[in-house]
Amino acid sequence: MSASLASTATSPVWFAAGYPLRAHNTFGFDVRARVACRIEQEADLMKALGDPRAAGLPTLVLGGGSNVVLTRDFDGLVLLVALTGKRVVHEDDDAWYVEAAAGENWHDFVAWTLEADMPGLENLALIPGTVGAAPIQNIGAYGLEMAERCARVRAIELATGTAYEFDAADCGFGYRDSFFKREGRDRFVIASVTFRLPKAWRANAGYADLARELAQRGLTQARHARDVFDAVVAVRRAKLPDPLVLGNAGSFFKNPVIEAGQFDALVLREPQVVSYPQADGRFKLAAGWLIDQCGWKGRALGAAAVHERQALVLVNRGGACGTDILDLARAIQADVLARFGVELEQEPISL
Ligand code: EPU
Repeated sequence: MSASLASTATSPVWFAAGYPLRAHNTFGFDVRARVACRIEQEADLMKALGDPRAAGLPTLVLGGGSNVVLTRDFDGLVLLVALTGKRVVHEDDDAWYVEAAAGENWHDFVAWTLEADMPGLENLALIPGTVGAAPIQNIGAYGLEMAERCARVRAIELATGTAYEFDAADCGFGYRDSFFKREGRDRFVIASVTFRLPKAWRANAGYADLARELAQRGLTQARHARDVFDAVVAVRRAKLPDPLVLGNAGSFFKNPVIEAGQFDALVLREPQVVSYPQADGRFKLAAGWLIDQCGWKGRALGAAAVHERQALVLVNRGGACGTDILDLARAIQADVLARFGVELEQEPISL
């Protein structure tokens, strides 16, 4: 893969001071970086960090910028990860092992695996962002989390330039969470991810919206991963805004998980509450439903708004800044807490 080639004389590519980040965050916030440089080869990374232009500056790693709220200009070095390359690294009787560099577009990668007849990632179609961002928040949708398909993550420690291979257990995956979002935050740059795609394929089509869409297509039993892929794409297009059209970062809050005792009390007051029992006896609540019930769906505070078709998604209607989105988020959290006694945790990182 090109990601492992040595740095060339022309890379990394440095940009003029005050580099605009608008195209590098899916909310489309109009903020700037003091300096920015594009990482095209793994070796570019240490070259960039050792450059006098980076001396003493904090660093921010951006892939697709799909999980970040940039509230102000970044007074430091922004590393734009543009490592590319994808290939099958290993195949045995049970699975294909496919490696993709961090800068690859996630959806294009998923489509590529299917075109090569390697199913397994179809439920995660159309998630915005890059391959390198996927493990950080353990992207998930329609009954699948990337953790279930992750074999290993190659990450480079910023302080030393040492490359580490994390297997799935080392990644500490949880619901929209990982080692890289917690202890490893700001310490590593993800260079590539290797996925294990089992050859024994079975459609994972139990998620309500997905099952409904497949049934509408006359596919009560999806026989091909392509059918699931197409249905996921259709459901997402119908419900979730395209960041290129309406700035957003997907779900803005995690679905909260509460203790059984709290759930029992809540369900007495709110019998309609949408919930999913967890293996550990707790209950996950649909944050979109909670927000919707508080009357926020489609409402706006200035140019920051709650999406009309999915209350869990906050959008930039044009000209909003990061603090406008955070003000809206705080107002929503306060209302949900007051009515349901439940705290909503923000999903994207704010800076
Ligand atoms: N709901 C409402 N009103 C709304 C939104 C949702 O009543 O405005 C209800 C729905 O009717 C449904 C329930 O809430 O009964 C769940 O809604 P949905 O199926 O749309 O999923 P979600 O829980 O809101 C999660 C993920 C999404 C993922 C979908 C599908 C999180 C934080 N979000 O959303 O992930 O696409 O399930 O699997 O877990 C993301 O993380 O950025 C993201 C988009």
